[in-house]
Order: sequence, then structure tokens, then C-alpha cells
Amino acid sequence: MATANTPSLKTRLTDLLGCEYPVIQTAMGWVANPDLVAATCNAGGFGFLAGAVMTPAEVEAGIQAIKAKTDKPFGVNFHMYTPAANEIIEICIRHKVRAVSYSRSPAKQMIQRLKDAGIVCIPTVGAVKHAIKAVEMGADAVVVQGGEGGGHTGSVASNILLPQVVEALKVPVVAAGGFKDGRGLVVALAYGAEGIAMGTRFLMTKECPVPDQTKARYVKAKPEEIIVSKKLDGMPQRMINNEFLQALEKKSAIGMLILAVRNGLAFTKITGGSLLQMLLSAWKMKKSNDMSFTQTMMAANAPMMIQEAMVNGHPADGILPSGQVAGTIKDLPTGAELMAQIVSEAQATLAKLSERTATKSAVAKATS
Ligand SMILES: Cc1cc2nc3c(=O)[nH]c(=O)nc-3n(C[C@H](O)[C@H](O)[C@H](O)COP(=O)(O)O)c2cc1C
Repeated sequence: MATANTPSLKTRLTDLLGCEYPVIQTAMGWVANPDLVAATCNAGGFGFLAGAVMTPAEVEAGIQAIKAKTDKPFGVNFHMYTPAANEIIEICIRHKVRAVSYSRSPAKQMIQRLKDAGIVCIPTVGAVKHAIKAVEMGADAVVVQGGEGGGHTGSVASNILLPQVVEALKVPVVAAGGFKDGRGLVVALAYGAEGIAMGTRFLMTKECPVPDQTKARYVKAKPEEIIVSKKLDGMPQRMINNEFLQALEKKSAIGMLILAVRNGLAFTKITGGSLLQMLLSAWKMKKSNDMSFTQTMMAANAPMMIQEAMVNGHPADGILPSGQVAGTIKDLPTGAELMAQIVSEAQATLAKLSERTATKSAVAKATS
């Protein structure tokens, strides 16, 4: 039961985002839809709409759908390198979205435009040098994702990466990669983070739109079956090692390039623009990210191959991006149940920690 001494869990992050608890539901392509975002926000967290796989019109409709379900602030995720980026920015400004998130190829001018309109800019990074660069480019806070995390991910675990980033930055840092509960939130706070950001845990909730048979595949996964592969776009991505990935791993370089062009063309229909614009953004990404041209051409692979599993409900026929933490999650609570569990566990853990250390000092006194 909450008492006057129960910690509120308010941090600089809750002030910045205007939410009750320092818990972010991250953007996940095809997964973080208006239902999931609204459920998170109504439960006291802060949700991001997965705008990176939407047309500007879909982003606008998504924002309106969220507003119909909640009066709480929320955010939108998008890629700054796509031809539709400026249009999405204007939509976010028009609808007074509280925050935006982004990762690859941030653009200083776009960040400035958002900040001038009072929108919080909170990118996700996977390395200390990228965290420093993100702040130089204008980020108000940074989500730092350890290698345990789902989707594109780095090689350094949260435990090692998080304290390094906290030491390097003055802006609020949010811990991502491997978090699912209140104990994890306390660990992140102890490292100096101002909150946690979770993808996989929110994917495994009732309001998440992913079909039940695909969710069941996540519930069944063991931690060691959730591996990192570079096959999709040359960059490390964490996912469940299912039948589809095993077949993909056997494909030749030519086979992958053909797939990349096919998926790239399909992706331009979603993000707007032409094949020429896609080649130009691939070139822009190559310059800023130090990736090969082929790799950037393959960037559209992941979003297209995820669809089959996440939207069409065929978990063996598409990519299943997942954090390793899925291997330890066996339930599908509602957003409200999840948030209540996280908050009460974090508060109980904090109380237990101070009791345990108080008992130790009493023992030390008694024996001295
Ligand atoms: C199914 C799935 C889809 C994802 N799609 C995106 C995406 O479209 N854009 C993005 O920036 N990150 C994406 N991510 C990464 C998450 O936003 C988040 O950073 C990551 O899941 C955090 O680690 P966790 O899974 O251990 O909580 C995705 C992750 C998952 C599991």
C-alpha cells in the first residue's frame, strides 16, 4: 500500500515528457499502433507511435486515433532520412505532439525545427560516441540501448553501456535493452538513468496489435534462441531464430540484393518518393553512417520482412525482432496491469533495499 514515504518515481524524464512514471514504450514498426500508445499513456507511461513504417497520412490518422483514446501526451517515431520526413515533422508540430524519437541519420535542421516548436527530441543510440553526437545535434534526452535489445542493436550490454553514457551526458538518459519490470527500473535509476524504455515487453501485452499466434511464438522463445544477425541489412539486429531467419542465412549475396531491391521498391510506396529518391537517401545514409551502399539499399528489408509475421500472423514466414528479455516473459498483461506491476515492484524494491542496508548498518553497530 502506498504511504507518504512511497517514492513517486518522478524524474527529469517524467517532467520532460509530462507522464506519471519514467517508463517509455518505444516505437516498433507495425507494432506500436494507436491502441498500444494510448494504453501505455493512459497507464501513466509514455508511448511512441511507429511512424517509420507509415505514410504521412497514416501518421496523421494515427495521431488523431491516439487523441481519441487519451488526453495524455505521446510521441511519434520516424526516420529523418526519408523523403516524407519534413511532412511528418509539420504534422507533429500541427498536432502538438509532445516528443519525437529517431535513430539513424539525424538531421540538425529538422531537429532545430522541432525544438523551435517545443517538441522534445529523444533519439535512440547504441554507443557512447553516438550519444555525445546526438546531444551535439540537439537531443533533449537520449535513449541508450544495450545489446540485449530488440531490432537494430549494438554489441555492448546495458550494464556496461548505460553508466558510460550517463557519465558522458548532462541531459536525461533513458535505459533500454533487456528491461521488463520494476527491479530493472530500479537498476536503471541506480546507474543514473532517469527511466527505462521497453519494446519487447510492450509487444507482449494485450493491447499490442500483433496476432495471437505470433505473440505465442514470443512467449515460447528461450533467451538463447533470440540471436543477433546481420543478414537483413548488414547491421546487427536481434530477433528470434525462426525458420525464416534460418532460410535467409543460407541466401547468397546476389539473392539478398535482389530481395533488397524488391523490398526497397515496396518500402518507397510506404515512405513516399521514387526509386531515385530511395537511392539518394541510401547514399545520404552511407555518408553519415559509414555503411556500404549495398547495406543502405538493404535498409528496407527489415520493415518489409517483419510485416509477414507481425501483421499477417505467420510467425514462421517473417522476421520476429525481439529483445532477449522475451525469453523470460511468460504472460501478456494489459498495459495498465503491466504499468501497475512495474510501479509497485519498483517501490517495493526501493523500500527493501533501504531496509536491507539499514539492517546491515545496525548489525555493524551492534558488533563493533
Ligand atoms: C518488434 C520490434 C520492432 C521494432 N521496430 C523498431 C522501429 O521501427 N524503429 C525503432 O527505432 N526501433 C525499433 N525497435 C527497437 C525498439 O524500439 C527498442 O529500442 C528495443 O525493443 C528496446 O529493447 P527491448 O526489446 O529489450 O525492450 C523494434 C523492436 C522490436 C522488438
